[in-house]
Amino acid sequence: MTKYTAVKGMNDCLPPETRKWQALEQLARDTFASYGYSEIRTPIVEKTALFTRSVGETTSIVEKEMYSFVDQGDEALTLRPEGTAPVVRSYIESGMANQHPNAKLYYMGPMFRRERPQKGRYRQFHQIGVEIFGTAAPAADAEMIAMVWDLLDHQLHLPDLALEINSIGCAGCRPEFLRTLETYLASRAEKLCTDCQRRMKKNPMRVLDCKNEKCRELLQDAPSIHEFWCEGCQSHFTEVQAMLKLLHVPYIVNHRIVRGLDYYMRTAFEVITTRLGAQSAVVAGGRYDGLVRQLGGPDVPGVGFAIGEERLMLLLEDAGTLSVKEEQHVCFALLGEAARKALLPVIRELRHHGVSVQWDYEDRSLKAQMKHADKLGAKWVVIVGDEELANKVVQVKTLATGDQETMSIDKLVTYFSEKCS
Ligand code: HAM
Repeated sequence: MTKYTAVKGMNDCLPPETRKWQALEQLARDTFASYGYSEIRTPIVEKTALFTRSVGETTSIVEKEMYSFVDQGDEALTLRPEGTAPVVRSYIESGMANQHPNAKLYYMGPMFRRERPQKGRYRQFHQIGVEIFGTAAPAADAEMIAMVWDLLDHQLHLPDLALEINSIGCAGCRPEFLRTLETYLASRAEKLCTDCQRRMKKNPMRVLDCKNEKCRELLQDAPSIHEFWCEGCQSHFTEVQAMLKLLHVPYIVNHRIVRGLDYYMRTAFEVITTRLGAQSAVVAGGRYDGLVRQLGGPDVPGVGFAIGEERLMLLLEDAGTLSVKEEQHVCFALLGEAARKALLPVIRELRHHGVSVQWDYEDRSLKAQMKHADKLGAKWVVIVGDEELANKVVQVKTLATGDQETMSIDKLVTYFSEKCS
């Protein structure tokens, strides 16, 4: 028999693990809502050209990591490798860009990149991301960064995180930096790794990001973007930092942050951890003021970030700081047809009051039902046989203690609604 397995680098998420994801996502939703963000949901499949144009033809994502295919109607499509381009596409297409350009949006869901799988790096992974449109003010960058810092540090109590920020310049000042960098790299080309030799021609800034020790040494005296900032970029970065200080967000300036997507300008940042080996970026983002226009919309600025949910989950697992509300199940042991008839309406009412109730479909013996309840992790078992029915009562047994009490059927809804609220 063929054994079907999941696609390499794409993982199932099973219970009880799913409850942790729900808890994390709910926390993110609540946090974003408190800052005035609304949710946006876009399709998982987009036209390939959207990513080629925005993420950039010479980036690793577009060059070799996209799941792209031609559909039956000869359309070139791609499983989204990231969330910003689809959100920008939707922002323009829906008319929001013209009618309500000031928008704060968030999204969560699967992304796809055909990378080499390893701890913290998958081919299907999940991002929780936000985008702010309509403001070029440094305060927007800073408050957005403060929001994600607050989520990770204050609410999730994650240790060993560092926020690194940079400004990667703008269309005005970056070309001169790139020219100087290209000259620097050209004089050392033969000593760089083969990846860097290739990147050097197509996307020289990416060379600065190389993890190869030898390349790092060679690049120690490479020109740095901050030596080339125009006045606008300089003052933007100064103001972002001032605002971060005002908001008590600790940060490190790292001029080597370049980001792997082409749409960024000015602010670029990452939240990194020492606990995930090479996959150190838990959050990454930045400003992309030219992107809306580049994708056919009005000239509206934007800034955003995305959290890698799997990476965050690994850190939370390690730190044990994600609080998931304990599940409170009630199991009903309904012994016989009459008990079912009398109690199923009560079960329905309990569920309407938000109580989680299960009962045994198989109509087995009391012993078997008790065992089943235990397996399900029930906190209480409500036992109803003919004798109880005759007296309009039930036996409520608390599994952890073994305590059992007789209770009137009429009291069940109030009793469990209070216990499980
Ligand atoms: P990115 O740096 O490509 O940026 O990805 C953001 C985060 O997604 C990374 O820091 C990492 O935590 C997670 N991530 C990326 N690739 C993988 C993978 N293969 N497996 C597991 N996790 C991964 C973006 O995607 C931008 N759209 C972020 C953004 C939003 N910029 C502005 N707005």
